[in-house]
Amino acid sequence: MKKNPSAQQRIRQHIDETRRHSERVERCLGLLGASPSSAKSTLASLMGSAQAVSTGLFKDELVKNALSDYATEQFEVACYKALMIAARESGQSEIARECEENMREDEAMATWLDQQLPTVVQESLEPVGAH
Ligand SMILES: [Fe+2]
Repeated sequence: MKKNPSAQQRIRQHIDETRRHSERVERCLGLLGASPSSAKSTLASLMGSAQAVSTGLFKDELVKNALSDYATEQFEVACYKALMIAARESGQSEIARECEENMREDEAMATWLDQQLPTVVQESLEPVGAH
């Protein structure tokens, strides 16, 4: 994978954000008196998706990974939006705020991934050894 310090920095930032998302979700579950065990496995798989980006990958997999990462972030946005609406409808304004915060950070990550796509595709079309 081509070294791209700013991309690696952005990905690391989102891994930290994702950890905070997990903490917020646990806090919300605590407010509702629910157990975080089932939520933990879902979040663990989301974390896995985020971390897969930062590992070394073969060139021909970069586009597929870029699409998959973008889809994952958009799915997270949709999940947090649904949770935010449900929380608002139930009068749980604090939980709605936490979900909105997570949603905004995932939206920002999805936007960033979208902006990277042209470069990822262009690099995948370059002959091996061009860098
Ligand atoms: Fe995310």
